[in-house]
Amino acid sequence: MLAEMGKWGAVSSWDFRSALIDTPAPVIDLDIAERNIVRAQAICDNAGVANRPHIKTHKSVFLGRLQLKHGAAGITCQKLGEAEIMAAAGFNDILVSYNILGRAKHRRLATLNEKTVLTVSCDNAVVARDLSTAVSGGAKPLKVLVECDTGRHRCGVTSPTAAAELAGVVNALPGLAFSGLLMYPPNGETAQTRSFIDEVRTLCAEAGLSLETVSAGGTPNLAWAGQFGESEFRAGTNIFNDRQMVSLGACAPEDCALFVYATIVSHPEPGRVMIDAGSKTLTSELVGFGDYGELVDYPGASLYRFAEEHGFVDVSGCKTLPEVGEIVRVLPNHICPLVNLYDEIAYLRDGELAGRFAIDARGKVN
Ligand SMILES: Cc1ncc(COP(=O)(O)O)c(C=O)c1O
Repeated sequence: MLAEMGKWGAVSSWDFRSALIDTPAPVIDLDIAERNIVRAQAICDNAGVANRPHIKTHKSVFLGRLQLKHGAAGITCQKLGEAEIMAAAGFNDILVSYNILGRAKHRRLATLNEKTVLTVSCDNAVVARDLSTAVSGGAKPLKVLVECDTGRHRCGVTSPTAAAELAGVVNALPGLAFSGLLMYPPNGETAQTRSFIDEVRTLCAEAGLSLETVSAGGTPNLAWAGQFGESEFRAGTNIFNDRQMVSLGACAPEDCALFVYATIVSHPEPGRVMIDAGSKTLTSELVGFGDYGELVDYPGASLYRFAEEHGFVDVSGCKTLPEVGEIVRVLPNHICPLVNLYDEIAYLRDGELAGRFAIDARGKVN
């Protein structure tokens, strides 16, 4: 039987019945995505910080333009390849929040720096020297932010002294312009990040360097935008949200804009049904969950195993059972790697299929 309308809204089945969309397929509710864009912009505006959304989540020119239209100051990319796609589409203020390293990237980096206002982050002197080699001799300097680890323990220098030292190294290298700091703070940890940044600011001032830009980010941190001592904020996942963001309390269920629609293709034994979405459709991301996604129309169902094109669903805990042929929605655990699986994605307006847009930077991982 068709699932009841619950906190997730109704299954938008018209487009499937009329065969406009086939399953399995990710489908974006563009009304929800746009509401998320507008909300992030309002949060940044109210906090007095520039909004620089991270496009690694949507990888789409169409959505990047929508973010600019609603007031974003520029965009963030994770990889040079993403930035090349966005620059070719006319984006003219791009931050690449990644250590760019290796001779194969030199010419690309130099070309991109001529084409757009480009800023990159860097957390060590090897990368800084490599950036300098790539761009020195160019028409304009490359803007560089020193990446600071204020507690997430991924990349980033781990002390204010090391940050100020690296700022000095960057500043002295030909072709580079030290422009400030970048951090990806641990969720909700404002005080630690703020005092780190304040200390770097003091040390840099003593060396005659100023922090033009201080860039912070992360969807779970949007609630604290403006409190990290930042001048700009980078959120990515918030445009679509996902099961992880709901469980972290970073969004409400109704803020989720992307579901994978799948068909129940088999009911081989009591308590188990099979959907036509496996690891090639949904990715195998668990991000701490015990199963591969939430079947929002069937509370109690568990998508507990994958083959490449099959999803195994335990429905023994469900009050009602889906029927073979029925379409169900899966809320992905982690939306960003999933989007990267698709060349284009269909979207709804007012609950009905309104078009498709390209995932232009799909697969651009270097
Ligand atoms: C450097 C950087 N900035 C910002 C973000 C955006 O974080 P979120 O996707 O939680 O919004 C990420 C996510 O990976 C990131 O790596």
